[in-house]
Amino acid sequence: MANLIVLGAQWGDEGKGKIVDLFSDRFDLVVRYQGGHNAGHTVYIGQKKFVLKLIPSGILRPGVKAVIGNGVVVDPAALMQEIETLETAGVDVRSQLLISNRAHVIFPFHRMVEKVSEARQGRTAIGTTARGIGPCYEDKIGRRGIRMADLVSPQGFETLYRNLSEDKMILARAFSVSEAIDFDLILEQYRQYTERLRPLVCDTSSYVTQAMRAGKNVLFEGAQGTMLDIDHGTYPFVTSSNASAGGACTGAGIPPTAINGIIGVSKAYITRVGAGPFPSEIEGPAADHIRKVGNEFGSVTGRPRRCGWFDVPLLHYTALINGFDSLIITKLDVLDGLDEIPVCVAYEVDGQRVSGMPATNDEVARIRPVYESLPGWKTSTKGVASLEHMPPHAIDYLKFLEEKTGVEIGCVSNGPERNETIVVPGSRLARLLG
Ligand code: GDP
Ligand code: IMO
Ligand code: MG
Repeated sequence: MANLIVLGAQWGDEGKGKIVDLFSDRFDLVVRYQGGHNAGHTVYIGQKKFVLKLIPSGILRPGVKAVIGNGVVVDPAALMQEIETLETAGVDVRSQLLISNRAHVIFPFHRMVEKVSEARQGRTAIGTTARGIGPCYEDKIGRRGIRMADLVSPQGFETLYRNLSEDKMILARAFSVSEAIDFDLILEQYRQYTERLRPLVCDTSSYVTQAMRAGKNVLFEGAQGTMLDIDHGTYPFVTSSNASAGGACTGAGIPPTAINGIIGVSKAYITRVGAGPFPSEIEGPAADHIRKVGNEFGSVTGRPRRCGWFDVPLLHYTALINGFDSLIITKLDVLDGLDEIPVCVAYEVDGQRVSGMPATNDEVARIRPVYESLPGWKTSTKGVASLEHMPPHAIDYLKFLEEKTGVEIGCVSNGPERNETIVVPGSRLARLLG
């Protein structure tokens, strides 16, 4: 067995939650390393549906420790709500969950700052999830943020809080924010959350590294996707953290040498929520089919997801950054009814083939995808238990993706349920999972 990172190879919502939940019975710890409650990881267990936002999907496996790492930004109100929902469903959150003392805390005024910046005239809105994620990371990088350790400390919190809220009051005045913010009430509410959260807060970096040294297996769960990574994504239409594999080390406080495998999760097509360039985006009947059959609506905001064909150059780029050992292709069943399935195999900008991913949005927006079309299989793949029983055209499609991306497909997901998944026997992924 091994320590693995499972992360999004596209623009998020690839099905990471389902995969992490499925694999987590083989792991002792599941660790989130970045993002916040902008994530929505959906897991179906029989008739029960869970949408995990902040808490690692491993929490649904009794006995597995679920760790919120230092790279995550935590909204205590959202966290409390998530804990309550899980407890109502019978999950023993209090004995399974740990929260890093170095994770930064989101306050309601972070949402105010985000609203201001998204609505400014003449600026391009990012189409964020409006959860205060970006402004909280801004305070972290600006070295004025408040961490869980500060929040649960009997001394010190109020001074830090007053300083930070003073900054936000100045901002609110400067931008003529009409919404009244009751800073004293927030302070009181956060004190109440503190009492409930204090027992869960600890030095998780030390906890995780010691567990690894003791031979425990750790799964690192990415949120968002590589194309939303603050450094490597389609900046500025990205989230504010490192969703790519490198983020697991800084965001969990673990050495790179502790990682044994990096697994990318990708849909059999591609989606994006929010603004920003999207080379293989489609509209019309095929997009409607994918959105309807794939239920492509945001798990957090309910927004319709933009849909497109599988993008090979994009996958090449995210594989390069992350060094995927293996790919998991999800939602193959969503393509079941289509006559033909185009795949974007190359990019052209101004009539010239380009290699790599252009850095400016202007260039990415000017990409003309070059497509190759494959025949559809026109029969159900949902829940088919092995590759041998897959329709030949579906096998051809998977082989085509594998050949073009240059990364092995170690697992295929053909339905939202745990048992609607095929791990390819003999694959590198199968070996890593032990
Ligand atoms: P995440 O953010 O990467 O965890 O993905 P989301 O949960 O936001 O979105 C993925 C959606 O697809 C969820 O509703 C899953 O239940 C669903 N899903 C995952 N894998 C499959 C699959 O193979 N087939 C189908 N039809 N749905 C899937
Ligand atoms: P999971 O983990 C898809 C997108 C938002 C917006 C941009 C910035 O479920 O895959 P933010 O609120 O993070 O500042 O918004 O990032 N975004 C996601 N898109 N899945 C997610 O998470 C996302 N988290 C953020 O739509 O375009
Ligand atoms: Mg999601």
